[in-house]
Amino acid sequence: MPALGVNIDHVATVRQARRTIEPDPVWAAALAELGGADGITLHLREDRRHIQDRDLQVMRQTVQVKLNLEMAAEPEMTAIALQVKPDQVTLVPEKREEVTTEGGLDVVAHADKVKTCIDSLRSAGIEVSLFIDADRQQIEQSRQLDADAVELHTGTYADAPTKAAQQRELEQLVTAADFGIEQELLVHMGHGLTYRNVIPVAEIPGVSELNIGHSIVARAVMVGFEEAVREMKALVSVE
Ligand code: PXP
Repeated sequence: MPALGVNIDHVATVRQARRTIEPDPVWAAALAELGGADGITLHLREDRRHIQDRDLQVMRQTVQVKLNLEMAAEPEMTAIALQVKPDQVTLVPEKREEVTTEGGLDVVAHADKVKTCIDSLRSAGIEVSLFIDADRQQIEQSRQLDADAVELHTGTYADAPTKAAQQRELEQLVTAADFGIEQELLVHMGHGLTYRNVIPVAEIPGVSELNIGHSIVARAVMVGFEEAVREMKALVSVE
């Protein structure tokens, strides 16, 4: 059974839309723990579009389950990670103009930069996972670079236009997971997973962690909306 890492970035996206103090992703992280999350995942982006440095610092003090920091393999981010010491860092590619992380990190093309980052983090006792495409060469290279884990990008599976295409993507994930385990890497998966498409991925043998964000935050808004309106209605129901 894979562990569930809950990505709370988009709680911060709503807060940043008004640059206010609510909703607080720290509070969401605590509620995620109450709901059974095995880990809390947050992405401190270079442009700070959602998660802020303060969120990471406070969560380091309050989160009781595994704290997984997603970040770019850049010296600025490495320095922050070494200071805050999350339990795990997941290295992701980052482009300013993208809406979300669009593809896996190319650890073959960026081997030197990634290796420098992995070495500093691992020597500080931080586990390192590499967010890569489900590709044999990328997995092999992750092993060479001494990563602890790979997170296989499930976006192509999630976005597959037909059932047949989705099945092909699933098979590719199964093969890549097997290969990762053979290479003695922990295998995680994530991106684009929803209440409708998650089960076949959760059933892939040997996967130790799933990271899911947008779909959980989207559902939380919906399942909580009616109650939130009821509470406001009670307040405004004055004579
Ligand atoms: N894993 C990684 C490495 C990611 O970058 C993201 C998105 O921040 C996720 C998982 C979660 O993706 P989603 O929000 O689509 O569930």
